[in-house]
Amino acid sequence: MIRLELNKATQFLSTEAIEKVSANVHAAQQALEERTCLGNDFLGWMHLPSETTPEFLAEIKACAQTLRENCDTIVVAGIGGSYLGARAVIEALSNQFEWLTNDGKNPIILFAGNNIGEDYLYELCTYLKGRNFGVINISKSGTTTETALAFRLLKKQCEEQRGKEMARKVIVAVTDAKRGAARTTADKEGYTSFIIPDNVGGRFSVLTPVGLLPIACAGFDIDALVKGAQDMEAQSANDDNIVTQYAVVRNALYQAGKKIEILVNFQPKLHYMNEWWKQLYGESEGKDGKGIFPAAVDFTTDLHSMGQWIQEGERTIFETVISVENAKHTLLFPHDDENLDGLNFLEGKRVDEVNKMAELGTQLAHVDGGVPNMRVVMPELNEYYLGQLIYFFERACGVSGLLLDVNPFNQPGVEAYKKNMFALLGKPGYEAESEAIKARL
Ligand code: PA5
Repeated sequence: MIRLELNKATQFLSTEAIEKVSANVHAAQQALEERTCLGNDFLGWMHLPSETTPEFLAEIKACAQTLRENCDTIVVAGIGGSYLGARAVIEALSNQFEWLTNDGKNPIILFAGNNIGEDYLYELCTYLKGRNFGVINISKSGTTTETALAFRLLKKQCEEQRGKEMARKVIVAVTDAKRGAARTTADKEGYTSFIIPDNVGGRFSVLTPVGLLPIACAGFDIDALVKGAQDMEAQSANDDNIVTQYAVVRNALYQAGKKIEILVNFQPKLHYMNEWWKQLYGESEGKDGKGIFPAAVDFTTDLHSMGQWIQEGERTIFETVISVENAKHTLLFPHDDENLDGLNFLEGKRVDEVNKMAELGTQLAHVDGGVPNMRVVMPELNEYYLGQLIYFFERACGVSGLLLDVNPFNQPGVEAYKKNMFALLGKPGYEAESEAIKARL
């Protein structure tokens, strides 16, 4: 199982401060389990791992197989919760240099619908010319502008390049059971489709077909991913486990003035796991004028850019490190006859050992600099432990939001920019808003 190390964070807290927050854990856990908490319409993620049947996973794998057999490239269109989890898992497990070039066994997985960059979309469509590509169109609401725009372009190009009949086979929708344009199009065109359950919010949906289908298409083991999540689910219901401990310590640190949590990795493959985590915690807790600001860095890369700030800047931060115990490959520090860089003392050591000493040295330096430090330790980077990690963070997010006394399962704030954008673009029905916003310019 993944482990949590807290002592370098709790040394910054008094016993009373921890006990004060811990006193509310039972109520938070009970409110989640009994579905009496704020946002209780969106608790479908809680028992999703244990409720996922082998038959359902087989359905997803069969669809993935059809796409894999008929496509050299699969474009996953989606944004936010309909995008980040799949990308986080696929990048964590992929060869960093082969996943975009196709090793002949797996299709290339690309992502779209997560921005409105004209150049991005133009370059994507150009890249796809002549390729046997398929599309997974993921949108719970079925009306998200970024995703709808990308899907319009991709659907047209796919039909033109591959013919209507093949397009029907290689375009798959993951959306609401009844509502939204993505559902209407899927039903009209006869696409294979999967349903995003009503009671699972976007940022908690990676273990639904939203994440599972792209991950299976990329060739990874979704049975092991779900098994990892099941095992974490099984041990997280009581009041004292790593989920509740993480939730308590981060809230106690917040109350002690540590307003920013930095998620740290020492593996470039985990960059998008950080991005997924930022959305999970940012959207869940940043409301009612409250919430830890979730930031993220990739070390050691960012020690050469953000290291100074973290070591000596305003003391309002704490760090949570995702540490991977065992690297997958072995690479030894090479000998150099001239030793001009003076590094022959490292000769024969594994590169991962050097990385681990960087991790330890950074932890001690940051703690000395007044930055509390927690570590989430994964034995290795595989589907099983990623499944544990995902459920660990999801459940801790639910508990943590309730400890903060916010509704962790809504996101009213994300509508504000959309309203302005539609008013500025003159969307029908937005006439009054359009006039008002233009008067402000
Ligand atoms: O977590 C969320 O609810 C959001 O990030 C959504 O996932 C995101 O806005 C995409 O929405 P949709 O799936 O409806 O296109």
